[in-house]
Amino acid sequence: MAEQILVVEDDTTIRLTLRDVLEKQGYGIDLAEDGAQGLAAFRASDYALVMLDLRLPDMHGLEVLRAMRETDGEALVVVMTAYPEVRTAVDCVKAGAYDYLNKPFELDDLKEIVRRALETRRLRLEVERLRMAAPQAGSIEGMVGASPAYLAMTEVTRRIAAAARVPVLIRGESGTGKERVAQAIHNLSPRASGPWVTLNCSALAEGLIESEMFGHEKGAFTDAKAAKRGLLELADGGTLFLDEIGDLALPLQPKLLRAIETQAFRRVGGQKELKVDVRFVAATNRDLDAMVKAGSFREDLYYRLNVGSIDVPPLRERQPDILPLAKHFLADAARIMGMPEPEIDAAVGALLERYGWPGNVRELRNVMERALILSGGGAIRPLHLPKEIAAGAAAASIAPIAQEGALLSLDEIEKRHIRRVMEASGGNKTRAAKLLGITRLTLRTKIADYGWTEFLGSAE
Ligand SMILES: Nc1ncnc2c1ncn2[C@@H]1O[C@H](COP(=O)(O)OP(=O)(O)OP(=O)(O)O)[C@@H](O)[C@H]1O
Ligand SMILES: [Mg+2]
Repeated sequence: MAEQILVVEDDTTIRLTLRDVLEKQGYGIDLAEDGAQGLAAFRASDYALVMLDLRLPDMHGLEVLRAMRETDGEALVVVMTAYPEVRTAVDCVKAGAYDYLNKPFELDDLKEIVRRALETRRLRLEVERLRMAAPQAGSIEGMVGASPAYLAMTEVTRRIAAAARVPVLIRGESGTGKERVAQAIHNLSPRASGPWVTLNCSALAEGLIESEMFGHEKGAFTDAKAAKRGLLELADGGTLFLDEIGDLALPLQPKLLRAIETQAFRRVGGQKELKVDVRFVAATNRDLDAMVKAGSFREDLYYRLNVGSIDVPPLRERQPDILPLAKHFLADAARIMGMPEPEIDAAVGALLERYGWPGNVRELRNVMERALILSGGGAIRPLHLPKEIAAGAAAASIAPIAQEGALLSLDEIEKRHIRRVMEASGGNKTRAAKLLGITRLTLRTKIADYGWTEFLGSAE
């Protein structure tokens, strides 16, 4: 069925022109001459898009827009305005309008904005449909994890992957596996046989990122001795992964937005518009919401990328995945190094599960690789773990202090407890003080009072 568009416009010539042009594009058109008529029509049926004039005889377009958005929070509205009212048009976009069109407009601009708005709507509907679809059990191939949080995420990943054109934003702390998820989206999508191209937005200076992304013509700048294709061209038919999107310089953001929306761009220094078919997947460990509020990330780009959004949970929120991941990394490293896969001591398992993993999966991988080297192929024991993880052992292995029958004074209990913690921390006062919850200075004073000379000169 044709998508239905409502045109609210008091100027008869413009109203009829819109109807003719859009009907030729295959859309169904309803007309309204003022705000009241427009609202009545809007409430009576379901429109894919509303083209709304701002200057109406009975009410201001901004009021009409607000009323429509109240009726339907997803309503897609393009406002039309003459130049002097551009500021109001911007207010409209802030109030939820999809975009605005300046009058007088070229018919091509009109067609383009309508096409884009409806494309966005189709993508949203597609994502919604996929979200409602029946779940497919199990994790994604090559990705380890069976915790509820991880399975929920892989499920969303699978569904979003299936919608070949939907842009995706992947959020998560550093080392959680965002790039793995991005690759899974490509591999599980209908574009899997197309190219997979990566651009790290934080790695290069602004000018270089621009020519990497869009390419450049010969002579576009001093060093441009020859024309070069951009990553967008290389990703044609496949997926472009924009890593660390939060670091993309502000001036480049509207250019990227345009490329996403129109699937077209120009090389730096180039005139010709190049058409591509690319899916955009972006990742960030930064708080884009906060950046949008602070004005360092464009809201329109944020919304466009965030059509399909995936949050990768931190490792501490998926404890059941820790041991399977540890075993996976150990087996992997052992295979590469030509060693037999070692056992993991039960005490090690408990320590790994208790630790907070601020560096997430990447930190776990590093810890297991290091442990394999230190163990030389024997079982992995607590002493093969980094101190900050093994320190969990110190805290845990401290048995109740007052033995049966021995009634000790508080001072004596304190002294014995400090002694144990010092020993468990290998004499490291900073770590012991942290475990004890006192300052290092207090700890030093106590050690001096107890006359424990062996600890006085030990590691800080
Ligand atoms: N579920 C998983 N199964 C197996 N390996 C994983 C999984 N998740 C992450 N990894 C591995 O952990 C490491 C870190 O993952 P990745 O590079 O994707 O993280 P990231 O979120 O992109 O990190 P950063 O924010 O630092 O860029 C990689 O070696 C990756 O292969
Ligand atoms: Mg990454």
